[in-house]
Amino acid sequence: MAVRNIMLEGEEVLRKHAHPVDRITRRIRVLLDDMAETMYANDGAGLAAPQVGILRRVVVIDAGEGLIELINPVIVETEGSMVNPEGCLSIPGRRCTVERPERVVVEALDRNGKPIRVEGTGLLAMALCHELDHLDGILYTDKMIEDVTDQYTNEAQEQEETES
Ligand code: NI
Repeated sequence: MAVRNIMLEGEEVLRKHAHPVDRITRRIRVLLDDMAETMYANDGAGLAAPQVGILRRVVVIDAGEGLIELINPVIVETEGSMVNPEGCLSIPGRRCTVERPERVVVEALDRNGKPIRVEGTGLLAMALCHELDHLDGILYTDKMIEDVTDQYTNEAQEQEETES
């Protein structure tokens, strides 16, 4: 396993549409391992493959409920709406509010190619939407309602790790 470099805003790869994974090879499993390690090393709540320069539909999330690995994820249900501040490991130091569904259901494949269904509310719903947007070249700042960076001191950022 290895910590990979995180692409920062301005890198073209973050604006591209990621391709579906057609075969889950060892290479994809290594990517999942590295992405989880990279996410944890950077205190993130999620990471999408384009953020490490790989244009594949692969996502890892840990919104406090344990590691979730998603291959070819698709949102199949949404409900309600909420507005919360978000951050992104590709846009360090910034925080903006975004409107997201309060609850989402995602279908994907796990690392063994088995279909899985993940239901998330609150922070997990936010992370699922944020990471899936990365797969389509969308950054959360594209959906910004308000830039609230100034309201977050370093201390607050350490306490509330929601960068993904
Ligand atoms: Ni992000």
